[in-house]
Amino acid sequence: MKVTAIIPAAGSGSRAGSTPKQYMELLGKPVLEWTLAAVSASEAVDSIILVTPANDVDMMSGKYLKNKTFPKVASVVSGGAKRGDSVRNGVMQAASEFVLIHDAARPFLSPPLVKRVVESAMAHGCTTAALPAHDTVKARQGEFLGAAVDRSTLLLIQTPQVFKREALLKAYEIKKDEASDWTDETSLMQSAGFSVAWVVGETVNFKITTPDDFRLAQAIAHFGARET
Ligand code: CTP
Ligand code: MG
Repeated sequence: MKVTAIIPAAGSGSRAGSTPKQYMELLGKPVLEWTLAAVSASEAVDSIILVTPANDVDMMSGKYLKNKTFPKVASVVSGGAKRGDSVRNGVMQAASEFVLIHDAARPFLSPPLVKRVVESAMAHGCTTAALPAHDTVKARQGEFLGAAVDRSTLLLIQTPQVFKREALLKAYEIKKDEASDWTDETSLMQSAGFSVAWVVGETVNFKITTPDDFRLAQAIAHFGARET
């Protein structure tokens, strides 16, 4: 087994409303299932570890283990207090050479993007999807604008992120308890001294965070994320 996908889906969705985002429905299907479908459709992914809130592990195991629609889901594990804890719980259950981490709250990634990130990680060890900034970017000074920042130097980091599992385990060992403070694993890896490569992500691969994001997701689900 070369690539295990870890899907952190153990958040509470406090910025989006009352229901955790992974359970909110787009065209009658939970956000999590859109994400699972896209990750499962990638030939680059061999198996999937789903990370859910501790109280939901039994219910989610019943629903997604031995599920004919998502046969790659191999285990369901309990999440932690922070996203980084949830991801680490999943990574600890993996035995593959590479791990791919993808937020449950990004339902519109495409299988070709998964392939690009995996292929780059096989060459470089660690790779994330990222988007160049297209808007004008300024520093923020209270109610006023601060200095302009050269946007050509900036990247907006997405998932999927793919790491050689041994390297990620090494970073956990180096950073110990600090490891779960980072908002993503590229930040953890860089702080532990690893270089991380990037490939161009996808605009539709945004993370549902706010109620407006959810409305946008409903529109995309309705009209389709891409032409093909
Ligand atoms: N996540 C997780 N475990 C946590 C926190 C987050 O597995 N303790 C997951 C979420 O379910 C989501 C992804 O990490 O798929 C990205 O996190 P975020 O967008 O912050 O989601 P929430 O933490 O659920 O939302 P909020 O921060 O608004 O409460
Ligand atoms: Mg969060």
